[in-house]
Amino acid sequence: MGETARRIDGKASAARIVAEVKAAAQALRSETGTQAGLAVVIVGEDPASQVYVASKAKMATECGFKSVKHVLPADTAQEDVVALVRDLNADPTIHGILVQLPLPEGIDETAVVQAIAADKDVDGFHLLNVGRLSTGARDEAFVPCTPAGSMILIREVLGDDLSGLAAVVVGRSNIVGKPMAQLLLAANATVTIAHSRTKDLAAVCRAADILVAAVGRPQMLGADFVKPGAVVIDVGINRIPAPEKGEGASRLVGDVDYAAASAIAGAITPVPGGVGPMTIALLMANTLVSAYRMSGRTPPRF
Ligand code: GUN
Repeated sequence: MGETARRIDGKASAARIVAEVKAAAQALRSETGTQAGLAVVIVGEDPASQVYVASKAKMATECGFKSVKHVLPADTAQEDVVALVRDLNADPTIHGILVQLPLPEGIDETAVVQAIAADKDVDGFHLLNVGRLSTGARDEAFVPCTPAGSMILIREVLGDDLSGLAAVVVGRSNIVGKPMAQLLLAANATVTIAHSRTKDLAAVCRAADILVAAVGRPQMLGADFVKPGAVVIDVGINRIPAPEKGEGASRLVGDVDYAAASAIAGAITPVPGGVGPMTIALLMANTLVSAYRMSGRTPPRF
């Protein structure tokens, strides 16, 4: 089986966005004196989360932002996490606040996330931002970074108007599946949200001109899930054992079986190097947009 699909280079697209963010941050700073600021909060020692948070903080610095990282021990009381969030809400040098999920057991994620001021909620998880996205108030909303980044990759292949195209989103999470469906709908696609309880998932997916996989199960979507010529966006990042690389070694794979799907799809994102780098780039873009809004300036569009 040969590879025929175009490989969608998320790394290159992300680098372009980061360069735009950097330039716009510099312009804002020289014209208004405002330096965009991002605060990331992590509670506990989950190793994958540590890596993600470190790369978010580092990228913020590279963009010329003020970058603050708060690391709290796993046994921190919920009210202390909320108190930190409230301090950041009140801090005029901070334009974006991100609390890394999942939070340790015993802390109510909803209580913490909803404590973030909606106008600093660069993750787009606050109910106000969820409502803004679903009602079409895009200019006031923050859109969750992974779906926003995925949408940019889709637009690069298919353009801004998805009229007449069938989109299937596999996964119904608040972070990816649901906002992804909203974005596709706003771009005029005909949208289906499929999930673990969907009957004959492969057949549903095979009807998709645009297939977005966000299920969190390694290489679950094989060749029989892909319509010839489809645009396949693989949101999954799964670490699996790779004994061929040596004892104890591992590698990252998506929710799509890349080798199988790329023989059939028209375009497909790889893992790594697809959606992953876009997520972090869009976090920078959202933070920049927040700083522009708070300075009374019209932000750039991404
Ligand atoms: N954990 C996994 N993805 C995300 C994300 O996009 N934002 C936050 N805050 N935590 C996450």
